[in-house]
Parts: sequence; C-alpha cells; structure tokens
Amino acid sequence: MAQLQSRSAIVTGAGGGIGRATSLRLGAEGARLLLTDFDGDRLEETVALAREAGYVVDGFVGSVTDPATVAELVDRAIAQYGGVDILVNCAGILHSESVRDLRLDDWNRVLEANLTSVFLTCQAVLPSMMDAGYGRIINVASQLALVGAPGHSAYAASKAGMIAFTKSLAREVSPLGITANCIAPGPIDTRMLNPGGEVSWTSERINQLPLRRIGRPEEVAGTVVLLASEVDGALYTGQTLGPNSGDVM
Ligand SMILES: NC(=O)c1ccc[n+]([C@@H]2O[C@H](COP(=O)([O-])OP(=O)(O)OC[C@H]3O[C@@H](n4cnc5c(N)ncnc54)[C@H](O)[C@@H]3O)[C@@H](O)[C@H]2O)c1
Repeated sequence: MAQLQSRSAIVTGAGGGIGRATSLRLGAEGARLLLTDFDGDRLEETVALAREAGYVVDGFVGSVTDPATVAELVDRAIAQYGGVDILVNCAGILHSESVRDLRLDDWNRVLEANLTSVFLTCQAVLPSMMDAGYGRIINVASQLALVGAPGHSAYAASKAGMIAFTKSLAREVSPLGITANCIAPGPIDTRMLNPGGEVSWTSERINQLPLRRIGRPEEVAGTVVLLASEVDGALYTGQTLGPNSGDVM
C-alpha cells in the first residue's frame, strides 16, 4: 500500500538527479507534490514525468536562496494541498577550489545555496507543520560533511552546517510531532558528480568503494521515503543516514 497517501510534499532541486528520483518515488507512494527548482526546463521535465505517471503534481520555478520566493512556494503548497507534511531539500551546488584560491563570493554563494536555503525552507514550513502537529523534514547533505575533501571546503562546510542545523531543529520541533533528518549520500550518478558529462570518479577510486560502484539517484530516494514515512520513519529524528556504497562507515 502507498505509504504517503494524502500527504503533501515540497521537493527542492526537483530538476536534478536526486531531486527527480525522489519526487517520482514520493509520487509513487501517494504524496501530492509541489516541485521546485530554479532551472525551469529541468523542473518541467520532472513535472511532466510525474504527471505522466498519474501523480498529483505542480511545479514552481524559483531560487530557494530568496526568502520571498520561499514564502511564495510554501503559500502555494498550503493553498493547493492544505499544508506541508513533507519537505525534502535537494537543491544544492558544488564548487571546487582549494582554500588558498577560494574567493569570498564563491564561498558565500555555496553557503547561501546549500545552507541558508535550508534554513529558509525549514523555517517557512514550520508554522504549517506546527499547526498540524506533524511534519517530516529531510535535508540532503553529503558524506563530505563528515570527512571533508581537498578542493571542497565550502561545499563540505555547507553540508556540515546543514547537519548541525538539522540536529538543532530536531531538538526544537520533535516534541511537536515534527522530525528532521539528514541524508549524507556518497557518490551518486548525477550531473553534479559528472559535470559536463565527464566522469569525475576514476575506476580506481570506484574500486575502493566497499560496494565497488557509485549509487543511482533512485537508491537515495528510498532513504527519503523511509524518513518521510509516518510509521517506518517515526523513530528517526536528528539522524544522518548514509547511502554511500560503504565509503564512510
Ligand atoms: N551526486 C552526488 O554524488 C551527491 C553526493 C552527496 C550529496 N549530494 C547532494 O544531493 C543534492 C542533489 O544533488 P544532485 O546530485 O541531484 O545534483 P544536481 O545538480 O543534479 O541537482 C541539484 C539541483 O539543485 C538545483 N538548484 C541549485 N541551486 C538552487 C537554488 N538556489 N534554487 C533552486 N534550485 C537550485 C539545480 O538547478 C539542480 O537541478 C545536492 O544538495 C547535493 O549536494 C549529491
């Protein structure tokens, strides 16, 4: 039986690899979807796939770094679906540069896109979730938050901030029936991993993974569904789950 029947969900970064797979899984589980991304073309592709599959879905083009846009997004979900039960934050950007060469504006851009956006969306859905006494917040971080990586200081810091933010949020809102968790994926086969179609992971590095392969976006979407589920996800809050091919244990 569909686990998320009658639940409403906002998914950010829904035009991206993990956001798309997540949106389609949530739809398959019966959730009514409001999908958002600032890439209107890719968002429309996801919305079309969800619609073809028969899911209840709408799209909203905009940047999750803009407070007014985020407020409008949440208002739209409340107007259409009566509230927001599930928020999944998949929007994010990667920027590769050594600490020595990293420019302040690039540092700020990454922190804004990956961390401030999560604060904005979480804050915006809280009144609706608090009124309902129910909510599931799932923030997609990265295993780099846990181990760091050369050339990825801003990205890793933004994702580590996301995990710390989510734990604090969980401590605030769990008594009200709202859970907040992170997912920290390892390498997943999306445009972010392979910018411009180039494979950024060498076969040597892939062979060092305990599972000997990088993940598929659909394999992250299942973890989102687990955390979004009323019963199966009920006891998770403040946690960080790692679908990561065993790269970080
Ligand atoms: N692919 C990986 O290996 C991997 C590993 C760990 C974590 N992640 C995280 O998973 C999430 C999804 O990444 P993905 O791999 O699907 O990459 P992706 O590039 O395919 O998707 C990211 C999406 O976010 C959107 N986006 C970025 N900034 C935005 C903004 N300000 N407002 C609205 N939309 C915005 C992009 O347009 C894009 O569609 C990201 O947060 C990423 O950091 C990815």
